[in-house]
Amino acid sequence: MSYATIRFLDAFERQRDSLSTQHDLILGIESSCDETAAAIVAGGRRILSSVVASQVDVHRKYGGVVPELASREHLRQIVPVVREAIERAGVAMADVDAIAVTRGPGLIGSLLVGVTYGKVLALSLGKPLIAVNHLEGHVHAVLLEAHAAGRSPRLPAVCLIVSGGHTILYCVESQSANGAAHFSYTRIGGTRDDAAGEAYDKVAKMLALGYPGGPVIDKLAAHGNARAVRFGEPKMKGNPYDFSFSGIKTAVLYYLRRNPQLQPEIDARQQALRRGERSADALRALSSPTTLDLIASFQRAVVDDLVSRTLAATEQHAARTVLVSGGVAANSELRRAFEAEAGKRGIEVYFPSRALSTDNAAMIAAAGYARFISGEKEESTLNAEANLPLA
Ligand code: KG4
Ligand code: ZN
Repeated sequence: MSYATIRFLDAFERQRDSLSTQHDLILGIESSCDETAAAIVAGGRRILSSVVASQVDVHRKYGGVVPELASREHLRQIVPVVREAIERAGVAMADVDAIAVTRGPGLIGSLLVGVTYGKVLALSLGKPLIAVNHLEGHVHAVLLEAHAAGRSPRLPAVCLIVSGGHTILYCVESQSANGAAHFSYTRIGGTRDDAAGEAYDKVAKMLALGYPGGPVIDKLAAHGNARAVRFGEPKMKGNPYDFSFSGIKTAVLYYLRRNPQLQPEIDARQQALRRGERSADALRALSSPTTLDLIASFQRAVVDDLVSRTLAATEQHAARTVLVSGGVAANSELRRAFEAEAGKRGIEVYFPSRALSTDNAAMIAAAGYARFISGEKEESTLNAEANLPLA
């Protein structure tokens, strides 16, 4: 079996001495959606191993995650993935100081696999079990890498979590108590309909660009004119920090209806996908300039909205730091636009590496570490919660 494995040992080796007093080993387990992941993180910041078994091939032909198939796949993967994480870290299960597991939010059947396995492991090893909110994990994906690189993001910060399942803004603060940092979160706004990644995936489905749609749209958008098609800004009453992406998605659908000459190339891409030709280059070769312009304009509308609302929220909360996390944080235009716009306002922006942007268990271990050192632990009655709020 082969897994995407992230090894950060070399980068962290240099810091071994300074970290020698912070060597608590946390085993992180993540199974909230369609990635079965396990990781060993030392002292909340040194990733000894991070193993991710993606189910993307299982769900591809449905154009989205099928919950029932996801739980079955987690059941198949959880034991080998945890074993692989332990082996790659070069530690023994008995060396682990605590087990951190994602409690929610996510697909209930998927969450239950990780929570149940985490409970059984903790019970049989006699180790504490820490419950982690998946969204808190995304916040810690950014903090973990910043700390590991010797940087300390100034808090309070505004964190944008933007993925296939979430588009949400939090204000993140921390207080120190008994030498441990305690993080608190206030919800500022969130999407009222689709998550941004979901909009990428749905638009990719309409245009026959494969699944997941984000990475291909990201690459193809660079070849189109982002000003060619105008999408109106979502008009919403109420909280100015809420998002809405279903309007942009519907606007793409209407554009395609008004431009039936694009149908033959959509059919050609569909056939290419059926033949397994799903690279961005192959799909680009089957895309007209009109389609590339549409893709670039869609991406620009989404990115502009994410960046402008996040920076407005940052200023309103008198924060000088923005953290961006989740699968869509891997988007090159989003990174470029954030850096340019935040730079103008003297705001610092932190992104995780691409490997830690998408779902992984290192971020769950890092979030769990903060809770572990402040003495938290769960009872064996812990249950998964599909709609667990962070704040
Ligand atoms: O965080 P993640 O792995 O899983 C969820 O919790 O949803 O995010 C997956 C989402 C998908 O919607 C995918 O299309 C999107 O992230 N994504 C991207 C990029 N890479 C992944 N969206 C835009 N640009 C990318 N480069
Ligand atoms: Zn996620």
